[in-house]
Amino acid sequence: MFHYLHLRSRFLQTLILVLIGLTFYAYYRTTVYDVRQYSLPRNTNYSAYQDGLHIHTNLSQSKNSSSDNMSLSPYVAHNSSNSSLIFTTLSTSSSVQSLSSLSSVSTLINSKQKVNEKLEMARVTNVTKLAPIIVRNDSARAIYEAGHIVSIPERCPNLGKNMDLVMIVMSAPTHLEARTAIRQTWGHFGQRSDMSVLFMLGTTLDPRVETILRKEQNMYNDVIRGRFLDSYSNLTLKTISTLEWVDTYCSKVKYLLKTDDDMFINVPRLLAFVYKHVKDRNVIFGRLARKWKPIRNRKSKYYVSQAQFQQSVFPDFTTGPAYLLSSDTVRRLYDAALDQTYLKLEDVFTTGIVAHRLGIKRSHANEFLNKRIQYTACNIQRGISIHMVKYSEQFDLWKKLLDGKRVICTKYLQINI
Ligand SMILES: *[C@@H]1O[C@H](CO)[C@@H](O)[C@H](O)[C@H]1NC(C)=O
Ligand SMILES: *[C@@H]1O[C@H](CO)[C@@H](O)[C@H](O)[C@H]1NC(C)=O
Ligand SMILES: *[C@@H]1O[C@H](CO)[C@@H](O)[C@H](O)[C@H]1NC(C)=O
Ligand SMILES: *[C@@H]1O[C@H](CO)[C@@H](O)[C@H](O)[C@H]1NC(C)=O
Ligand SMILES: *[C@@H]1O[C@H](CO)[C@@H](O)[C@H](O)[C@H]1NC(C)=O
Ligand SMILES: *[C@@H]1O[C@H](CO)[C@@H](O)[C@H](O)[C@H]1NC(C)=O
Ligand SMILES: *[C@@H]1O[C@H](CO)[C@@H](O)[C@H](O)[C@H]1NC(C)=O
Ligand SMILES: *[C@@H]1O[C@H](CO)[C@@H](O)[C@H](O)[C@H]1NC(C)=O
Ligand SMILES: *[C@@H]1O[C@H](CO)[C@@H](O)[C@H](O)[C@H]1NC(C)=O
Repeated sequence: MFHYLHLRSRFLQTLILVLIGLTFYAYYRTTVYDVRQYSLPRNTNYSAYQDGLHIHTNLSQSKNSSSDNMSLSPYVAHNSSNSSLIFTTLSTSSSVQSLSSLSSVSTLINSKQKVNEKLEMARVTNVTKLAPIIVRNDSARAIYEAGHIVSIPERCPNLGKNMDLVMIVMSAPTHLEARTAIRQTWGHFGQRSDMSVLFMLGTTLDPRVETILRKEQNMYNDVIRGRFLDSYSNLTLKTISTLEWVDTYCSKVKYLLKTDDDMFINVPRLLAFVYKHVKDRNVIFGRLARKWKPIRNRKSKYYVSQAQFQQSVFPDFTTGPAYLLSSDTVRRLYDAALDQTYLKLEDVFTTGIVAHRLGIKRSHANEFLNKRIQYTACNIQRGISIHMVKYSEQFDLWKKLLDGKRVICTKYLQINI
């Protein structure tokens, strides 16, 4: 008798559990259905970047994704002063509800009022399962558009398998003369099969400049164009675009030199340096800037706010005019740069903050002069990179480098650190 009762109660218990289970299952199905309706319609113009931080899964992390192809991404607003996630319902208004209010949801399962919260709970669960990446609205990803308008992959055959060096010169649309001078001087080394010299430009709103650029491109086919407006504040986008290009089209090259169009590069000297360090990995060579402090004066061209960078000292970085990256760093720098708070100081950002985060070594090489120096034959022959070179001066430097006159340099490089 007792035994029978016990069994019956077991049976009843099981039945009740099954019913509860079914109820939850039905609820779950409804939720899934509803959530689909909450996801973004395919052709909606949405501007999630503008309101708070958002999350996206790595479904949308593929390199082809751009700001207009993230329809699978559950957008979540994030309160930056508090690490808890806050959910934004997308289809209705922009109502924001805190997760903490969901704790009581189980007691209110049948309350119609709480339908939204139930939906949100389901979606949040899903988001958690997909291991979301939290992206701040001030991150580089929020403004960077991946891909290149002109990509010239043929300038790095076989992904650079047989190349030692790709030199990418940051240039501006209007700097045609600077590019011409480089092509006619040290850029000549780009003819060799073991290296390439290419230019990286953004876009311009001036149709006349665009016309000239198109002609230039037809003539030389050595200009890569990124998807950003070419301006001083977008210099970091230019570097990110360079990293993306090398990762996509030239990932097997041994070294990448990032430099500017007002630089003279002593390519034979640079090549010797590359050969010497051909086995090195995880390193950026250049002129090391140690313990530099952010400028907090709003009027400065180099102003950095607390929100952009909080600490009082930058991580050591290699200065922007020329630095040399072992190519194994390129992919990691590109990926990590996108999740970093955007800073227009491209050298601090890339070779300082992002490289530091990734544990990439920054190594000082004194031959990277990266400043204007006296154009003595000695300086030119012993240095790798000279800054602030007017295009008309490129020819003078080139001649001094290559006129065959060997000079005895008694003094070490005539510069101070
Ligand atoms: C979870 O996300 C995936 C992909 O975004 C989607 O296919 C699935 O329906 C979602 N499930 C729930 C319970 O929302
Ligand atoms: C999206 O916005 C652009 C310009 O802001 C407009 O040209 C386009 O028609 C819009 N698309 C839709 C589907 O609303
Ligand atoms: C980022 O979000 C904050 C609020 O969290 C807002 O004040 C700021 O304007 C947003 N920035 C951008 C670039 O959308
Ligand atoms: C998501 O990222 C993880 C690690 O970053 C990776 O292992 C996984 O393959 C990625 N999934 C997709 C669909 O890209
Ligand atoms: C990325 O886009 C390019 C052209 O737009 C295409 O050829 C390539 O297959 C795409 N890659 C992926 C991973 O979707
Ligand atoms: C989004 O990306 C997927 C695959 O990467 C592609 O099939 C689809 O056409 C893209 N949609 C848009 C609007 O670009
Ligand atoms: C973010 O959280 C802080 C602290 O919890 C709060 O004071 C602030 O109002 C919140 N901001 C928003 C936009 O919700
Ligand atoms: C974050 O917000 C939650 C709920 O709004 C609150 O309980 C918690 O104390 C906050 N944490 C911080 C660090 O502000
Ligand atoms: C580039 O810079 C200009 C002006 O400095 C700005 O208007 C633009 O939004 C920036 N971003 C991109 C992605 O072009």
